[in-house]
Amino acid sequence: MSFKSVVLHASLLIGASASASKRLESRQANGVTWGDCEFEAPGLQCANLTVPLDYTAPESDATLDLQLLRVPAVTEPKKGSILFNFGGPGFASRGTLAALAARFLALTGGEYDLVAHDPRGTGTTLTASCFNTTAERQQFVTVPMSVVPSTEDELALGRLYGQTDVVANICNGFPGFAERGSLIGTAFGARDLMQIVDAIEDDGLLRYWGISYGTALGATVAAMFPDRIDRIVIDGVLNPHQYFNSYEIEAWADTDRTFFNILVECLKAPDLCALGSRRTNAKDLEKDIYNLIDDLREEPLVSGTTLIDSSAVLTFIRFAQYSPETYPAMATALEALLAGNTTEFARIYNNFIDLGLILTLTPDESPFAITCGDKELPEQTFSETAPVFEALEEESRLLGSHGHILAAICQNWDIQAKERYTGNFEATTRHPMLIIGNTFDPATPLRSAQNVSASFEGSVVLEHGGFGHGSTSHGSACTINAIHNYFSNGTLPEPGTICEVDYAPFEPATIDNVLIELGYLPDPAEEA
Ligand SMILES: *[C@@H]1O[C@H](CO)[C@@H](O)[C@H](O)[C@H]1NC(C)=O
Ligand SMILES: *[C@@H]1O[C@H](CO)[C@@H](O)[C@H](O)[C@H]1NC(C)=O
Ligand SMILES: *[C@@H]1O[C@H](CO)[C@@H](O)[C@H](O)[C@H]1NC(C)=O
Ligand SMILES: *[C@@H]1O[C@H](CO)[C@@H](O)[C@H](O)[C@H]1NC(C)=O
Ligand SMILES: *[C@@H]1O[C@H](CO)[C@@H](O)[C@H](O)[C@H]1NC(C)=O
Repeated sequence: MSFKSVVLHASLLIGASASASKRLESRQANGVTWGDCEFEAPGLQCANLTVPLDYTAPESDATLDLQLLRVPAVTEPKKGSILFNFGGPGFASRGTLAALAARFLALTGGEYDLVAHDPRGTGTTLTASCFNTTAERQQFVTVPMSVVPSTEDELALGRLYGQTDVVANICNGFPGFAERGSLIGTAFGARDLMQIVDAIEDDGLLRYWGISYGTALGATVAAMFPDRIDRIVIDGVLNPHQYFNSYEIEAWADTDRTFFNILVECLKAPDLCALGSRRTNAKDLEKDIYNLIDDLREEPLVSGTTLIDSSAVLTFIRFAQYSPETYPAMATALEALLAGNTTEFARIYNNFIDLGLILTLTPDESPFAITCGDKELPEQTFSETAPVFEALEEESRLLGSHGHILAAICQNWDIQAKERYTGNFEATTRHPMLIIGNTFDPATPLRSAQNVSASFEGSVVLEHGGFGHGSTSHGSACTINAIHNYFSNGTLPEPGTICEVDYAPFEPATIDNVLIELGYLPDPAEEA
């Protein structure tokens, strides 16, 4: 595709999505050249797609190459493609799709190609990095921000706040970063999605599944290009109003309830949950764990080179809650710590870090740079930001303090996205959205799914009656079939539908077991 035509096309899209879409419906996609991939799984294809670097500068010739990954459909005739974003922000989506290709093909029915690209700011695409070396990142970001102080520890919280200002200043001064940072926002991300659609979809329509931060991107692309939406699933929804205009407080709304209900499930399955015999009711068990965390605030423990303070345990619980698959290990670790076995806790905690289940060192600053660049916040000092920190802790006693870092760094961030979505997410998409919220999601509450649904005409909230972050963390044939039907023929579930999950959270099962049971994934036992 010639470079001029790309730029011309982008300028047409800005503020003119309706007429552009009519024009596009009859067009042939230009295509991209799919070739070999650096990812190892068989059958995967990769391509580069040249897009405008800066959508706000239609006169500019500057371009950017997006890196795409495709998992080809397995059923003929193919129906087009589904694009993915797995969250963060800051995750390079190609690697996730490559790793989960078989699962997502099974989840979407196999009739669609699955496509992911590394969003701006991530991977090697406009990498939002403010440091030359990992050691520097460790010094300025990882180590100081591994401490999660509460408002009760004003000295530590003030220090964290100041430290985020230092990082913001480092980023601001890092060669080329201010420009980069302005080009990686979610509105540009939405335009990139439509560029990919233009290149690979004959009907010019978007099919998309976004998880976690991918729901903010999904809501944004749906609001910016409502006439070009064929199917959008947003799953594990964060409140996009707060994402763009405020602090992400609502994200923690179901956290404490989720943790409590994990303990309820634990007591029902003492053979599978190491904490299950400690107490007879969940309230007492919950109190034991909150007391343990309070004790660690006063008196941190150490096992060898592992510091077991309240921050470490809370970080462990935060990420362990994301998937029922890790609940038995979480329970074993907490039981060990309650029994005074620091070695065993440290073993499991370090294992989580090694497996990448706990995010410690990010490869770059894209999680902050994308989020903070998208926000417009009032100028405030540390003491003026105190009500935000208090609101976070009010929202979740257990983990609200984990929102302090993001609030603080965004408060201090200087580099805004060149384009921000400033609308109210009121739109009638060409086909209505399917919006999924878990009953027990520690990071994206059901109410945020309802919040988005309220402003998108015809959208339906499917309550996925399971645990973890996003619907794929806990298998439900009902939810899987709802997703199948939606992608296959556009059918939405009845409003008010609650899908039960097919196994209890401490059982040794994953969504793949449900996919095998449904016949959507091959049974390895039969293949052997
Ligand atoms: C995409 O571009 C990168 C960087 O120029 C190159 O290394 C890679 O091979 C290209 N990928 C494909 C599939 O053409
Ligand atoms: C990082 O690298 C850039 C480009 O080579 C250089 O200008 C800058 O001084 C380096 N920063 C530090 C802190 O070493
Ligand atoms: C800690 O737990 C591990 C694993 O259960 C066990 O092997 C070890 O003996 C325990 N250590 C102590 C001091 O109880
Ligand atoms: C959605 O959330 C925003 C931000 O919290 C709030 O202002 C708005 O009233 C909510 N909308 C609905 C319909 O709940
Ligand atoms: C499509 O639509 C109907 C509802 O009208 C549904 O019952 C059917 O099973 C759907 N799904 C597929 C995969 O065809």
